Amino acid sequence: MKRFGSFAAWIGDRSEGRMLEVFFVPTMGALHQGHAALVKEARRMADADALRPVEVVVSIFINPTQFNEPGDFMAYPATPEEDVALLAAAGADTVIFPSVDEMYPSGIPGTSDMVDFGALTSVMEGAMRPGHFDGVVSVVRSLFKKTQPTSAFFGEKDWQQLAIVQRLVELEFDTLDVVPVQTVRESSGLAMSSRNSRLSEADRKKASMLSAEMMKVARHARPRAVVGFAVERLERAGFEVEYLEVRHGLTLAEAPWEPGAMRVFAAVCLGGVRLIDNFPCGN
Ligand code: PAF
Repeated sequence: MKRFGSFAAWIGDRSEGRMLEVFFVPTMGALHQGHAALVKEARRMADADALRPVEVVVSIFINPTQFNEPGDFMAYPATPEEDVALLAAAGADTVIFPSVDEMYPSGIPGTSDMVDFGALTSVMEGAMRPGHFDGVVSVVRSLFKKTQPTSAFFGEKDWQQLAIVQRLVELEFDTLDVVPVQTVRESSGLAMSSRNSRLSEADRKKASMLSAEMMKVARHARPRAVVGFAVERLERAGFEVEYLEVRHGLTLAEAPWEPGAMRVFAAVCLGGVRLIDNFPCGN
């Protein structure tokens, strides 16, 4: 696996060799098996077509503009050597660590351009974390422009982010294919997340209750009727529930029931650590 400290260095290296198609996995580092699943899927798809030589490229950039809490940005773990080892084992060809200066040559903007994709950007994470998706969209747009990928891989755990990136791609990158990859879970059911490492041992055990409660809602014959009970049980156990809602999986609207299309979404805080998750209804 090749490692570069900037997109400029990678682009220089590429122009000397054969230009391969790019399958791209953008990340903020602190990688775990959820990220490995994205890279493995990119590798699997790349290897499936011997006629189309592909480079599986991963970027690691902790994007300051998508943290609405400065403390959250400061607390975000940087684990570059562990990340490189995980990416090599998962089958990446290239990892790029761009600097803040390369990504934001005129300095880190105080705010990013506002993105209004209707309910996609205004509900749930959009409502709880003002400015977060503005920062995500502007950095993803810039990463796509630098890497020019034909496929980009995003985890379903951040379902709302995935829906927003799909919309961005429809509007601005018509030859790019967004590939969703299923959430990877710990054996307890807890969705893998870089934030899990900040949970105390006791809270990490307790955190499995989130997926258990969400699954009960998702599998119930009338999910919306039992949301309140799930919230009550989580709060009694010490979770601070920001939202637990049943919405349409594509529009993210609180739409009338459509069989096969609805999902349960939640964001909670446990011991100061924010966790999000989602499940399809009816499975
Ligand atoms: O999901 C993430 O890790 C980030 O939001 C992304 C897509 C890499 C943009 O910074």
